[in-house]
Amino acid sequence: MADQRPVLFFDSGVGGLSVLAPARALLPRMPILYVADSAGFPYGTRSEAEIAARVPALLGRLAERYRPRLIVIACNTASTIALPAVRAALDVGVVGTVPAIKPAAEASATRVIGVLGTEATVRQPYVDDLTRRFAADCTVLRHGSAELVALAEARLRGEEAPPARFAAILAGLFDQPGGAAIDTIVNACTHFPLVEAELAAAAPQSVRFVDGGPGIARRIAHLTQGTEWPEAAPPGVAVFTGAADRRLAPALARYGLASIETL
Ligand code: SIN
Repeated sequence: MADQRPVLFFDSGVGGLSVLAPARALLPRMPILYVADSAGFPYGTRSEAEIAARVPALLGRLAERYRPRLIVIACNTASTIALPAVRAALDVGVVGTVPAIKPAAEASATRVIGVLGTEATVRQPYVDDLTRRFAADCTVLRHGSAELVALAEARLRGEEAPPARFAAILAGLFDQPGGAAIDTIVNACTHFPLVEAELAAAAPQSVRFVDGGPGIARRIAHLTQGTEWPEAAPPGVAVFTGAADRRLAPALARYGLASIETL
């Protein structure tokens, strides 16, 4: 019998759609539920203690209510801080999203990599660890931007921002000592692929952007191997923990999320 349980994608806002998209492309019949913790948004400027308490508690409530097949924490900030606690607390499989430093190091010719994330993500020891393990021979420069998260959310509401704002954010990487040699940037926040075209256009030189979405899609496929998905995917649902911004509805529909609910 077909498994109707949804794969639950979780983020503070709409950034996790950049993780949902490649997963849907790979597994088009997978039922999907997308949860945006709009009541807790943004995560990137919150303290570690707040995120470490909030995310496992909320995911516990969501798991009880929606009985998902699998949970994907489609948020680097939440994953780098709370992933082990969430896994320990829940009896459902949990996939996290961590900065794609390994593929960036594999791709970089200059051996200078930029990591663009939230302020909370770029200061995590987890990022030091990934750098040591996968990019020990690279110079890894980091920059955290809350403004870029807000610009990505606005983009999904259909609002454009001037290129100068993206250029000013990127200067936080390129203006660091050695930054002129950056050839690869890790989008270490799931919001940022949503404005990758704007970032690429504003960058002072041609750079490659890397994010965790394609790898996570393969991981979901691996973990759900053998699952009998429905003949056709049921319409996806977007759940907001606080007020849902109706201006997001057209963008959500483009990602297969046909209806919006509030938790
Ligand atoms: C944010 O809410 O600040 C963005 C979190 C993230 O995707 O890392």
